[in-house]
Amino acid sequence: MTGVRLENISKQFKDSTALEDVSFAVKDGEFVVILGASGSGKSTILRIIAGLEVQTRGHVYIGDMLVDEYEPRDRNIAMVFQSYALYPHLRVYDNIAFALRVRKVPREDDPDRYRRRTREEIDDRVRRAADLLGIGDTLTKKPAELSGGQRQRVALARAIVRDPELFLLDEPLSNLDAKIRSSARLELKRIHEQLKQTFVFVTHDQSEAMTLADRLVVIDHGHLLQFDTPENVLSRPANQFVASFVGSPEMMFLEGRIRAANGGFAFELDPVRISVRGARAPGPVTVGFRPWDLTVAKTAGPGAFPAVVRGIERLGSSDLLFLELQGSGAPGAPAMSGVTVRAMSRAYEYEVGDSAGVTLAPDRALFFGADGDRLDELEGAPAGP
Ligand SMILES: Nc1ncnc2c1ncn2[C@@H]1O[C@H](COP(=O)(O)OP(=O)(O)OP(=O)(O)O)[C@@H](O)[C@H]1O
Ligand SMILES: [Mg+2]
Repeated sequence: MTGVRLENISKQFKDSTALEDVSFAVKDGEFVVILGASGSGKSTILRIIAGLEVQTRGHVYIGDMLVDEYEPRDRNIAMVFQSYALYPHLRVYDNIAFALRVRKVPREDDPDRYRRRTREEIDDRVRRAADLLGIGDTLTKKPAELSGGQRQRVALARAIVRDPELFLLDEPLSNLDAKIRSSARLELKRIHEQLKQTFVFVTHDQSEAMTLADRLVVIDHGHLLQFDTPENVLSRPANQFVASFVGSPEMMFLEGRIRAANGGFAFELDPVRISVRGARAPGPVTVGFRPWDLTVAKTAGPGAFPAVVRGIERLGSSDLLFLELQGSGAPGAPAMSGVTVRAMSRAYEYEVGDSAGVTLAPDRALFFGADGDRLDELEGAPAGP
């Protein structure tokens, strides 16, 4: 078991910068997920850890060892690729056993010399890994005869038998359909719990990241934006990009101003007023809300945005309403008209075309500055009279 540490890693390809000064440390036994959009640099991070790609700057440590000069085969890492890369002509058994047959191990009597594993040793490892993953009955089949979920487990079994110090998984679930995908996630989590080894897992799917991660790395265009627990990434996003990338349904943003009010400061976007603690000066600001922090009512009372229901997505116990704000019509009020917000509510009370009122929970507001960074010191509270 072992952790992994990236120190100021940059990667320059011929005509593009894939990574820019990325640093993070994965603890021994931790499950870390790298989350980012396509092309953000996720696979490049894994390939640099595995030694398949060489960084332009910075260092990689596995455990306490600086491994920059190590060949991939000397890093004791197992990587599972999105494509699985199974050998199509080999039976499942031989796919799993393959690496065990080609890799020699140190001799017990003389660790400086190497020997091949015995047939019994290999058989024992293959069967134990297959049982752990529930594919014991597929060992004589060829990959083409398996479902996507089973193929993915064969790829994992092939990684597990090698008993690596570190698992690197590059979107291994993305070929699965939605239904198996969520059970495969739980399965993977269970395997991690049993093996207690270090996992670094790449995905572009935020809900997958939130389910699996002990901590997650959010990257965008080669920059690390946040490295934190799912709870903190959700409730304390580093910036507006993270806030909108993580969480479903997506966060909504309102642009307005902080003004001096009653000896303090308040965010005002007619008809909404939120008292802002921690503010030092007036100025433009963006306020973010999660759809579940909005309250929808049949009528727009004081402090509520008048709105019209434009769409309803039925999710089950609670539904998602798409509400088009109407603006208050007050003289000098900002033009909120036409902005569509999403709110969780019980949809059976509404039909498309109904009028409604939308209220924000002031203490749930997140504030963002002009550069998109979250203003950590600002806190919303109900405005005084
Ligand atoms: N061998 C290469 N040569 C040149 N550019 C590359 C190479 N590999 C990756 N890149 C570039 O580096 C950037 C990051 O690529 P990377 O494969 O790490 O993205 P990713 O986050 O894994 O994307 P995806 O979700 O699509 O797999 C991209 O702009 C890509 O075009
Ligand atoms: Mg990739």
